[in-house]
Amino acid sequence: MDNKKNRVRVRVPGTSANCGPGFDCLGLATTIYNYLDLTLLKSNKVVVESTGEGSENIPRGKRNLTWQAVRRLLQEVGRADEFKGAIIRTENKVPISRGLGSSSTAIVAGLTAANEILGSPLDKHGLLKLATELEGHPDNVAPAIFGGFTVSVMDKGEVQTFSFLPRIKLKLIVAVPDFELSTRLARKVLPKNISMKDAIFNVSRASMLIAALVEGREELLPLAFDDALHQPYRKKLVPGMTEVFEAAKSAGALGAAISGAGSCLIAFTSTKSQLENKIAAAMVEEFKVHGVKSKALILNVDKRGAQILRRNFK
Ligand code: HSE
Repeated sequence: MDNKKNRVRVRVPGTSANCGPGFDCLGLATTIYNYLDLTLLKSNKVVVESTGEGSENIPRGKRNLTWQAVRRLLQEVGRADEFKGAIIRTENKVPISRGLGSSSTAIVAGLTAANEILGSPLDKHGLLKLATELEGHPDNVAPAIFGGFTVSVMDKGEVQTFSFLPRIKLKLIVAVPDFELSTRLARKVLPKNISMKDAIFNVSRASMLIAALVEGREELLPLAFDDALHQPYRKKLVPGMTEVFEAAKSAGALGAAISGAGSCLIAFTSTKSQLENKIAAAMVEEFKVHGVKSKALILNVDKRGAQILRRNFK
């Protein structure tokens, strides 16, 4: 039976990692959300109910990723003997296996909701540490927790994150292809070593990207979204990638990139340009030329990260 005191509803944004040159370290939160209604149970029972994106394939019972996050938090704060189960109800809007951070939302939602029910024993940095451990890298979980853009650094297994809101109002245009791409496959195609030339290419652009966003220097962004570390190797997994980037830029985008490990492609424009619909149509049209059916999402940067929506309700 639901226990009023042990129930919380949270909302977690989908995310886009890498932002072009910031492979495995940059990320941003977007205004597309997954919702979790979590009840902690004393009994040893895990019930999972899910609606929306990918709901038919979400693991039920103890294999469920949100449950694993809840359980990890319970262990961390020494309450795992008290709460042995949960009721997990999710409503998912973030497309699955498309590079929009759906697995991060499941982890961050479980950690955030369980932490709230237990009286917030961990701060956001404590949640980030557990989320990074569960996800394996910080670039999606960090913006899902903090909102805005995030820069994350791993040092001896410890994560350090800087989160900020850009001084340019951005519109994000995401072309969502009708095929999934596993992160594992998208990482398998990457080389083990890269050249000094490609390293300099990316370091210069990633630095320019952050500086331009922080200072509000829109005129510097067209230089800043390109990448030589991962996208050239992944383009064979996303038919038409380079051409869709070019189509977005010809329609007025400041830049374009693979969202996370794909399959989505993301383009950036400033709100004041009012070009987002034109860019969206150009991206979908170009994908079609390459035999890929897609739909476009026009999103903003989420500023708040994971939020508690309701506490202690029946
Ligand atoms: N930075 C990661 C990658 C994101 O591009 O492989 C995947 O979630």
